[in-house]
Amino acid sequence: MTPDNDKKTSIATLDRTATLQAFCDVVESRRSVRRFTDTPIPDAVLADCLRLAMLAPNSSNLQPWEFYVIDDADTRKRAIKNCMNQNAAKTSARLIAVVARTDVWQDHAQQILREYPDKPVPKKVKDYYNKIVTLDFLRGPANIVSVAKWGATQVARRLKGPIKSPYYTFEDTKNWATNNTALAAQNLMLALRAHGFDSCPMGGFDEPAMKRLLGLSDDHHIVMMIGAGERADNGIYNTQFRFDQAQFVHYV
Ligand SMILES: Cc1cc2nc3c(=O)[nH]c(=O)nc-3n(C[C@H](O)[C@H](O)[C@H](O)COP(=O)(O)O)c2cc1C
Repeated sequence: MTPDNDKKTSIATLDRTATLQAFCDVVESRRSVRRFTDTPIPDAVLADCLRLAMLAPNSSNLQPWEFYVIDDADTRKRAIKNCMNQNAAKTSARLIAVVARTDVWQDHAQQILREYPDKPVPKKVKDYYNKIVTLDFLRGPANIVSVAKWGATQVARRLKGPIKSPYYTFEDTKNWATNNTALAAQNLMLALRAHGFDSCPMGGFDEPAMKRLLGLSDDHHIVMMIGAGERADNGIYNTQFRFDQAQFVHYV
């Protein structure tokens, strides 16, 4: 099988100005919308937005994310309460919990090898997912593997120079899963915008209560709730502004 360059080729032959304009339109028109109309988001549109969400870049393609679309009326009522009754949740056409998984790296590494598009799976790919990924994440009972990894990393750094730190603690893995999942969340919000809908990311929710409601375990972290729907006329609460680039961008 040859690498899938179809999309790259189509971008290359597209009018670049139009592509950039379309991209800017999507990014610049996205706002955090706190009130939505009654217009539903069609299932096919939401499915496409989720497809685009999952095209987000992610570490080693391990895809440690999940999306819980809360459609059941009773669950939704309780979820809205857990979102502190925010209008962005209350008026949303769809309410989605965007969840990072800390426990899927091993299963997903094996799933990658099973579903790898190029057959036979190259040896270096097998080695990467069987050995390197395991070394990166494995903590062992009472973190015993992490202690050994920490020691080995210090030594290797002194002897060989720069080396990427593996994940030593549960918090390291949680950060890793959260980083990946946040990128997917942003793709999801931009995809909604591109489809003519809007969203509001919410960190203002009771995570333990929401996890109980959705039946999630300690290995699930709700990165954010997203309310989505069609923007109401009074859906935007304030004028968008950001600080000056010079405050944040360092050319070194
Ligand atoms: C992680 C995160 C958590 C947020 N939590 C909330 C929230 O609980 N409620 C809310 O109304 N907006 C929330 N927001 C939206 C921000 O307030 C909003 O993005 C910011 O004010 C900039 O406005 P803009 O998105 O319209 O550009 C959140 C945004 C992010 C990224």
